[in-house]
Amino acid sequence: LAPIFLNNFSIREYRPSDKSAVVWLLQDGILEHVYPAFFKAMSHPDHVGITLSISMAGYVLGGSSYLQALLFGGAWAGLIYYCCQEIYQGFLTRRLEADMADIQATYLEKPGNGLWVAEAEVRGQAKVVGMVAVGPEFDPGAGNGCYGEVSHMAVGFGWRRRSVGSQLAQRALEFCKERGYAHLALNLSSPQTAAAALTRKLGFTGMTLQKKGKILWKKSILRKKLVSLKISSLLISIHELFAHFP
Ligand SMILES: CC(C)(COP(=O)(O)OP(=O)(O)OC[C@H]1O[C@@H](n2cnc3c(N)ncnc32)[C@H](O)[C@@H]1OP(=O)(O)O)[C@@H](O)C(=O)NCCC(=O)NCCS
Repeated sequence: LAPIFLNNFSIREYRPSDKSAVVWLLQDGILEHVYPAFFKAMSHPDHVGITLSISMAGYVLGGSSYLQALLFGGAWAGLIYYCCQEIYQGFLTRRLEADMADIQATYLEKPGNGLWVAEAEVRGQAKVVGMVAVGPEFDPGAGNGCYGEVSHMAVGFGWRRRSVGSQLAQRALEFCKERGYAHLALNLSSPQTAAAALTRKLGFTGMTLQKKGKILWKKSILRKKLVSLKISSLLISIHELFAHFP
C-alpha cells in the first residue's frame, strides 16, 4: 500500500529498518504508566488506609517515633511502586520476547497481522514517531470467527495531540475491515487515560475486566515469589474496548 500523507506525517507499513525506533516507542509507551499507576494506587482509599495504619504501627513500635512512622510508610509506598514497575516492566519484557522478537515473522509474513508506523520529517530526516500493531484473535461467535486486536499503539512524546494516534487507529480499523474481522478490540489498563480518551473519541465502547487485572497483578507477584503478599486487587484494572464497524 502506498503511504498516506497527512499534514506533516505519513502512515506506512513497517520496514525492518524501523525496528529500533519501534522498540523505543513501545518501551516508552509502556513504562510511562508506572508513575500514574503508582499515584493512582496510593491515592485509592484502601491504600491510604493501609499506609496510615502501617505508619501508625511504626510510630507505636518505635516508641512514639515519627522517624519510624515515616520509614514504615515509606517502605510500604516503595513496595507499591516496585509492584507497579513490575507489572509494566514484566508486560514489556514478555512482549519483547514474544511478537516483537521477530517482527518480520509475526507481522509481515502473516496476512492476518499488520504493523504500521507514522513517519515525519524531523530536521530533514525521516523519523518514526508512532506505531500501531494489530493481530487476529479467534472467537467462534464473531463474524468470520476472528476479531482484530491492537497489540501495540504508541506515539512519541513530542508528537502527541497532533492526530498521529487517531490516524494510526484509523489505519488499524481499515485493516480489520479489509480482513473481514468482526470488530477491533483494545485492552487498556486503567492508568492509560490518554488512550482511553482517544478510543472514546473514536467511538469505541468498553467493559471493565477487573478479573483480568487481578490475574495480571498476581502473576507479577508470583514471579517474585511474594505469594503470601495480598495487598489489594485495585491497583490496576483492565478495560476492553471495542470498535464495531458500521
Ligand atoms: C494514546 C496515544 C497513542 C494517543 O496518541 P496521540 O497522537 O496523542 O492521539 P491524538 O492526537 O490522535 O488524540 C486524539 C484525541 O484523543 C484524546 N487524547 C489524546 N491524548 C490525550 C490526553 N493526554 N489527555 C486527554 N485526551 C487525550 C483527545 O480527545 C484527542 O483529541 P484532541 O487532541 O482533538 O483533543 C499516546 O498518548 C500514547 O502513545 N500513549 C502511550 C501508549 C499507550 O497508552 N497506548 C495505548 C494502546 S496500547
